[in-house]
Amino acid sequence: MSNQTTRKQIILGAHFPGVNNTTVWRNPASGSQIDFASFRHFAQTAERGKLDFLFLAEGLRLREQRGLIHDLDVVGRPDTFAVLAALSSVTTQLGLAGTINATFNEPYEVARQFATLDQLSGGRAAWNVVTSSDAFTGENFRRGGFLPHAQRYTRAREHVQTARELWDSWRSDAIVADKEAGQFLADGTAGAFAHDGEHFKISGRFNVPRSPQGHPVVFQAGDSSDGREFAAQSADAIFTRHGTLEEGVAFTRDVKARARRYGRDPDDLKVLPGVGFILGDTDQEAAEIAREVRFEQVSPQTAILLLEQVWNRDLSSYDPDGPLPAEDPDVESISIIQGRARQVDGILETARRYRRIAEEKNLSIRELIVEVTGRGLFVGSARTVADELDRFVLAGASDGFILVPHIVPFGLDGFVDQVVPLLQERGALREDYVPGATLRENLALPPAAPAAHWAARVRDNAEEVAS
Ligand SMILES: Cc1cc2nc3c(=O)[nH]c(=O)nc-3n(C[C@H](O)[C@H](O)[C@H](O)COP(=O)(O)O)c2cc1C
Repeated sequence: MSNQTTRKQIILGAHFPGVNNTTVWRNPASGSQIDFASFRHFAQTAERGKLDFLFLAEGLRLREQRGLIHDLDVVGRPDTFAVLAALSSVTTQLGLAGTINATFNEPYEVARQFATLDQLSGGRAAWNVVTSSDAFTGENFRRGGFLPHAQRYTRAREHVQTARELWDSWRSDAIVADKEAGQFLADGTAGAFAHDGEHFKISGRFNVPRSPQGHPVVFQAGDSSDGREFAAQSADAIFTRHGTLEEGVAFTRDVKARARRYGRDPDDLKVLPGVGFILGDTDQEAAEIAREVRFEQVSPQTAILLLEQVWNRDLSSYDPDGPLPAEDPDVESISIIQGRARQVDGILETARRYRRIAEEKNLSIRELIVEVTGRGLFVGSARTVADELDRFVLAGASDGFILVPHIVPFGLDGFVDQVVPLLQERGALREDYVPGATLRENLALPPAAPAAHWAARVRDNAEEVAS
């Protein structure tokens, strides 16, 4: 027990797979991506493993290139709030994290939905704020919805700030419900708000009383300097793709230093990379399974589509089992990717790196994509995977992980049955939940700071930078 209190705990989330090519839906073990039974099994398995939260990503439009839907994208994703609300009734302790976009939604709606989820779940809600820029996705929405990169983040910051003001508009003692005296509210201030900013000018009354966490936990996912700054200012946790030890250490140092500049305790911003895992009875068996799974994840079509994201050209005439294109990427034209922001910076450098690797290892297009997109994958026996996860956290590469299994809905079972007990044995993971603890408490986050504190941090930092 003393071991448990002294050593660093690993935070673990479970990402319900989908909205990208991680999930190998053609695998014989794969089940439905949309039946409630799949969500329920996955959530209850995560809770059986004493994990911190279930996580839903969001894809508001299926990815397309040249009119082709990515063949491994899951076809359709039920609405996040409905799924998480349903899951709140079949779990009791597990956090419920939903990715909701700050570019296309309004603060009043989002604040209401998360406050409601927090009420329904007894303090287990988390909001992963994303900014998803692309105009193609925006076509789904009433205003087209495209915003330049920097403006997306000013909007996101104000969006979260406004939501915090709405959550604060009900004091925790606002309801007296004195039946004898016939008085429900303590006074007339409940829910009153007024926000006057660059992106939102709203006033009125918020109609969901203060929820158990006060403010649901706020995650951020976005990796540019603006994105990291936004996380350092406004988030409790950051979801990242930096899945190798070296990248993780550098990223964690960077974002925690940014948090410190806002006067925050760096421990109050949790860094959580999304990672895959492949287990076998031995390391060798796991490596063999991993190779098969990686080729399932990088189908011939996916290999070409992912290469096109770097080359920014139509490469449909290329053979995925053949060599890389001789011509260089197109850096002039706008991105051909639709339904997802471009993730590749410095495409010429990336292309050079790809060529070097392909040449050194004599790789085809498909083999190269398998090689370069396999970061953040833990492969081995349960003991090897437990050792590695722990090593990353102890080395400061992250505060934990968001696990992304490749099989729905049973992909988490092996981890919970085999890896979790090993992490518990070494005191890195709770043996059980504290009954009734909120997600914020499970993540060792401080109680929600009032909206005014968050705003002051931004102002103080801006003044410091200006002086
Ligand atoms: C780890 C990670 C996960 C993300 N998940 C989602 C998602 O589920 N849905 C979404 O619309 N955008 C998602 N995004 C996209 C970001 O919200 C953002 O639009 C994109 O990263 C571009 O911003 P950036 O230049 O700051 O990275 C994710 C980004 C990262 C880094």
